[in-house]
Amino acid sequence: MVEGARADWVWSVERLRAGRPPPPLRGPPPPTGEDLARVSISTPLKAKLMKLFLDTADVAVIKDMVPTGMVDGVTTNPSLIAKSGRNIAEVIAEICALVEGPISAEAVSLDFETMVKEGDKLAAIAPNVVVKLPLTWDGLRACRVFTDKGIKTNVTLCFSAAQALLAAKAGATFVSPFVGRLEDNGADGIALLEEIRVLYDVHGFETQILAASLRNVAHVAAAAVAGSDAATFGADTFKALVKHPLTDRGLDAFVADWAKTGQSIL
Ligand code: E4P
Repeated sequence: MVEGARADWVWSVERLRAGRPPPPLRGPPPPTGEDLARVSISTPLKAKLMKLFLDTADVAVIKDMVPTGMVDGVTTNPSLIAKSGRNIAEVIAEICALVEGPISAEAVSLDFETMVKEGDKLAAIAPNVVVKLPLTWDGLRACRVFTDKGIKTNVTLCFSAAQALLAAKAGATFVSPFVGRLEDNGADGIALLEEIRVLYDVHGFETQILAASLRNVAHVAAAAVAGSDAATFGADTFKALVKHPLTDRGLDAFVADWAKTGQSIL
């Protein structure tokens, strides 16, 4: 399924690059072998920086990671707030003061009216709060309300391309497909990211794909290759991103060889 959708996308990209009219939204003819041979899917249509978010409600962890200069935002959820043992409004306010980028704070009620009230209260905490809403009909209705008010949203608990389509149609700023939890259930989470990328590009949706429930370095790299706009993961994975045994071994050798020279650069 992904292969077919990816092929359509490749074909669409080639048409746009060649200055030909964009493809019809339904039923594009399959690409020819020549079409595919001329297109490199590794060349993005537009340059964009992938954002890296910390998935935590632990302020100490965020303070520890901010000096890396790599924390573009933070995501929280009710479980992470519970784990922090703190009041949600207080902890979100502190996080918003530490990190300028988008800070997701999740509404917890399941009905539309209460969800909107909760979202309004969370959004009032700071201008960089993103109201996180579940992928339900009520959550999607609430998403439309916040989008129309100019408040950013993150539609969470996304496990299918059909759900991602609905989030985009509701005007979500971000959609959060849960890679790790799909894998926990024997499904291919990275394939879902690829499928949503195709879907959004073919139809021109601006909702950003926020790869979530990423559990390791390989997940983060694969999410990036799949064209995710952002990725969120815990501090352990964040710290592990920089590590490679050959980097350590190479550095040890350089330090040892340099010591033998007796020189100093300063
Ligand atoms: C992101 O928004 C979610 O809160 C988070 O990534 C879920 O991760 P988990 O499946 O490891 O709990």
